[in-house]
Amino acid sequence: MEGKKIIVGISGSIAAYKAASLVRLLIKSGAEVQVLMTPAATDFITPLTLSTLSKRPVFSKVSSEEGWNNHVELGLWADAMLIAPTTATTLSKLANGLCDNVITAVYLSARCPIFFAPAMDVDMWHHPATQRNVQQLQSYGNQLIPVGHGELASGLVGAGRMAEPEDIVAHLDAFFAQTADFAAKKVLITAGPTYEPLDPVRFIGNRSSGKMGVAIAKVLADRGAKVRLVLGPSKLQPTHPNMEVVRVQTAQQMYEASIHDWEQRDIGILAAAVADYRPKEVADKKIKKKTSSLSIELEKTPDIAANLGKIKRDGQLLIGFALETNNELDNAKGKLERKNFDFIVLNSLRDKGAGFSYDTNKITILHKNGTIKQFDLKSKAAVAVDIVNEIKAI
Ligand code: C5P
Repeated sequence: MEGKKIIVGISGSIAAYKAASLVRLLIKSGAEVQVLMTPAATDFITPLTLSTLSKRPVFSKVSSEEGWNNHVELGLWADAMLIAPTTATTLSKLANGLCDNVITAVYLSARCPIFFAPAMDVDMWHHPATQRNVQQLQSYGNQLIPVGHGELASGLVGAGRMAEPEDIVAHLDAFFAQTADFAAKKVLITAGPTYEPLDPVRFIGNRSSGKMGVAIAKVLADRGAKVRLVLGPSKLQPTHPNMEVVRVQTAQQMYEASIHDWEQRDIGILAAAVADYRPKEVADKKIKKKTSSLSIELEKTPDIAANLGKIKRDGQLLIGFALETNNELDNAKGKLERKNFDFIVLNSLRDKGAGFSYDTNKITILHKNGTIKQFDLKSKAAVAVDIVNEIKAI
């Protein structure tokens, strides 16, 4: 952590008292710390305590008698911003881009990685609104430092305690220790479903959430790769300084966005669930309900994987996915060969917790040299790390 510039934003929760040890630990590990507080946080711990520990003035307002605290400058200064504790209110403001205090202003201006350590009572934590806000923040690329489980200030026992200062520092330590082992690499990733229009209202689509491909994109971007993420219609809105996100709807658009600069890419990871067929004709007006049955003629979409595989040059790696419901290994092997993949990641809908929309996945990796590796059920974020490490090992 030596020399790292860290903004610690403190919002108004009883856990704010732990911010004193947090700041002390960060300073001890060699970091420069700028403390920001919401006005409510100053009811729980004094700015004087924190300015003494951080050896810098603490800002609790966007402007003060001394002038305007330049939130844009602060946002650019920091190597990381840590919001600890993050109350339910602050979580909701950050998720919605509401800018009414110095923390929310700096948050919106910051270009550095952002970490948030929530703290609240168990029922507040489990409320769907809170959970939606947490997911929303994660979808912006912000990193959750998970809450602990135990006794809460209310006397209730459950989830919602802010992570201990030592754990928070360990989290940041691990982040900064990450190696930029993909720094010189240019990567193409496809993710999400495709929507193939039938008329201006309807489409043929599938249940892909885009979570797996987006998780891989994030791991690679964190490890220094320049990622071009071609993302179909997914609710996720990933952002990262190392990531260019190209939004597409149809298989044809995904194909064009992927082939576009494939020649310059070192690695292609095709995690999208691309529609295999699309309506041959797209009606320009809404199709009316007239006959008792309706037939729609479908035609094949371009196979992005097969096309990239065909023109793959020496030194390029191409990784594919196979989501199967039966005869899994044989189907995956067939795709590995047909599409000229270097390895294929197989997941079966027969495995509990694997496949579309889950936050977990269970994968088997089949290499072109015949090696087969099985992995346990893990979070998609952990599966993404396994896949990236497998690429590294080639
Ligand atoms: O043949 P299947 O669709 O099961 O193959 C899956 C693999 O091929 C995935 O990696 C998927 O992203 C890719 N694919 C593609 N373009 C298509 C169909 C599949 O890139 N039109």
